[in-house]
Amino acid sequence: MNLRRLQRGDITATTAEALLAHAAGYAEVWFDAGAGDGLFAYRAARERADRLCIALDPVAENLAKADKKAARKASKGGVDNLVLLVGAAEMLPEALGGFASMLTVNYPWGALLRGVAEPLAEVLAPLARLLKPGGRFQILLNQQVFDDTPLRDRLTLPPLTEAHVDERLAAAYEGVGLAITERRLLGDQAPPVRTSWGQRLTLGSGRDTLLICGEARGEMPQ
Ligand SMILES: C[S@@+](CC[C@H](N)C(=O)[O-])C[C@H]1O[C@@H](n2cnc3c(N)ncnc32)[C@H](O)[C@@H]1O
Repeated sequence: MNLRRLQRGDITATTAEALLAHAAGYAEVWFDAGAGDGLFAYRAARERADRLCIALDPVAENLAKADKKAARKASKGGVDNLVLLVGAAEMLPEALGGFASMLTVNYPWGALLRGVAEPLAEVLAPLARLLKPGGRFQILLNQQVFDDTPLRDRLTLPPLTEAHVDERLAAAYEGVGLAITERRLLGDQAPPVRTSWGQRLTLGSGRDTLLICGEARGEMPQ
């Protein structure tokens, strides 16, 4: 299946094989799913030239900001180690796997939020597949959505309690080869990464963030 890549304002088709070959030239690959404006991935790309950063979002207009910044001259902040993919997590091709050392999902909504929080195997499995054995994942969730019972009911989301994470999520994540090693409400602590929505949601608002992180198992469970 083709992937769609946004580059310098144009959307072109690419393949999992082409992306894997491209990634092979880098020391590490970070994959940000539900990347929004893509600026978190853009900043991660600027931090290290030997890190390929891939940002995925179904809305191309969202990613345009990072595309514009990446296309600048290097002296003005341009980067060539950022790939912007237009698409949904559940549409990632099976051939795209085992190559990322870090997977991030920051403040998701819609199908991606349900996919990681309910969870839904059809969303979680393609994301889990991206990681190489021992690769890390980090998910940041806006806890307020889950604590607001009428909103949560309207969105038909489960309560995001400790028990839900430790029992339902842990088992479902294990089922796709991911081990949750930590879950923590951040309270007054700043989120471990800076993203546009993270800043919008948390700065001075008292809204809490739930951090869920862990790593990919060496082998998929049978
Ligand atoms: C609240 S924004 C967060 C954006 C960014 N991660 C940040 O923290 O600034 C949620 C993003 O999830 C994306 N999204 C929703 N469903 C998705 C899916 N199925 N696969 C990938 N991204 C999805 C939306 O298009 C939106 O850009």
